[in-house]
Amino acid sequence: MVNRIWPRFVDFTRSLRFRLTLWNTIVVLVTVIVALLAVREGLRYYLLIETDAVLDDEVKEIVLMVEKFHPEREQVIAALKRKDVAHLDVGWHIRWLDEDGETAIWSSTLAPDKPLSKLPFSTKERNVYSSERHREIEREIENPKVPNYKIRVGTLMKFIDEDVDRLTRILAPVGLLILLLAPLGGLLLAKQAIEPLQRLIKTTERLRPSHLDERLELRGVGDELDQLAGKINTFLDQIADHLRKNREFVANAAHDLRSPLAAIQSSVEVTLEKSRSVPEYEELLYQITDEVHHLGQLVNQLLQLAETEATEADIPVEPVALAEIVTKTIEMFEPVAEESGLRLLFEPAKEIVVLGQSRQLRQVLTNLVDNAIKFTEKGGTVTIGLDFDSKRENGLLTVSDTGIGIPPDAVDRVFDRFYQVEKSRQRFGAKRGNGLGLSICQSIVQSIGGTIAVASQLGKGTTFSVSLPLSSG
Ligand SMILES: Nc1ncnc2c1ncn2[C@@H]1O[C@H](COP(=O)(O)OP(=O)(O)OP(=O)(O)O)[C@@H](O)[C@H]1O
Ligand SMILES: [Mg+2]
Repeated sequence: MVNRIWPRFVDFTRSLRFRLTLWNTIVVLVTVIVALLAVREGLRYYLLIETDAVLDDEVKEIVLMVEKFHPEREQVIAALKRKDVAHLDVGWHIRWLDEDGETAIWSSTLAPDKPLSKLPFSTKERNVYSSERHREIEREIENPKVPNYKIRVGTLMKFIDEDVDRLTRILAPVGLLILLLAPLGGLLLAKQAIEPLQRLIKTTERLRPSHLDERLELRGVGDELDQLAGKINTFLDQIADHLRKNREFVANAAHDLRSPLAAIQSSVEVTLEKSRSVPEYEELLYQITDEVHHLGQLVNQLLQLAETEATEADIPVEPVALAEIVTKTIEMFEPVAEESGLRLLFEPAKEIVVLGQSRQLRQVLTNLVDNAIKFTEKGGTVTIGLDFDSKRENGLLTVSDTGIGIPPDAVDRVFDRFYQVEKSRQRFGAKRGNGLGLSICQSIVQSIGGTIAVASQLGKGTTFSVSLPLSSG
């Protein structure tokens, strides 16, 4: 039994509900205790002020009497005695002190034996004295017959203490009640706060990688939990989208790998069907080599895509001089351009150094120039441009051609993996592609914090612009 209850209790103590209850109880208790103490001390202070004022009135009355009527010493004492008797039942006492303030000329029977200490807020006209048991107010008498003598009227502190204790006795049960109710209130409050969270947890439990169309319910109140649910839903949308693209990618990759394999297989089968002449064998072997080459290229592209995506987060970058990369690429493509009857132009005007990886940036430029040559008719021009962007924050690499262009409805899709506008569009004789070149460009450029864009006019030409962060900026 204990074995089962204890772990559940430990779990409960770890829960948000428990912590909220505990915190609420502690806060309520501390507040209540501080409030009760404040009320108690406030009352004591108020009673002291009141007592001082009443005692002071009495002192002033005596002082006024002596200063106004100039009575003899015996007359003063007689008057004091009368007053003393009148105030005996309220515990007051009166003292008539010498000008040194210590020797008593006359004092009531209730007057304290021990000296009282003077309080700091005494003034020149009115002194306040206090001890644990007594409180006194003192004023000076200015009378030619009794010069600079002092009158003190005092009372017992126990009256104030009794009042304060009475209040404490009234407030104590209230405090005790709050003490008992605080955890209950805390539990209720925690339940209110946790409920929507628990609903959120329940829905989250239903989510499966294979079942990502489930979304968290928004309560429409716009609080933090709604915001959290909204954020999780957006994240789920992104994951679902990512998974969908990945599935498509795998399906496309499998399909594209199968086509050359099927071609190779049928070529081999045809070759083996009967014995053939050497030129026939040569012809079939060329076909097979062509397919193997295409297959190799496709596998390389797939590997490259996987590599850039895997290292996207922490790719090491270095300063790369773009002009150098362009020059090398042009050297590589010049023979192909010449063979295709195209002009390849580049005017290195500016020294632009960007942050990236030399090998990968070369790959980007190679893919773009390869496309430009592939999709431009004989006699056309391919121009490579290099400049700063308008804000001089990035380096801008452009590849423009005067080729067949891209239809407006396809422009947005050219960066999708395996997307080709039409397989048959490319210039006669160019090697066939896989529709992966631009997606590789995009993932490389994005991995180093750049952007790639395309602008095209059907039948007139296309420009690809790659913006890359400058090394100095
Ligand atoms: N300069 C261009 N002019 C016209 N169309 C283009 C141009 N560049 C790309 N395209 C279109 O975009 C599609 C995708 O280009 P991408 O480079 O990704 O693939 P690909 O060149 O067909 O094959 P791969 O690059 O994998 O060998 C091309 O098939 C083509 O239809
Ligand atoms: Mg390409």
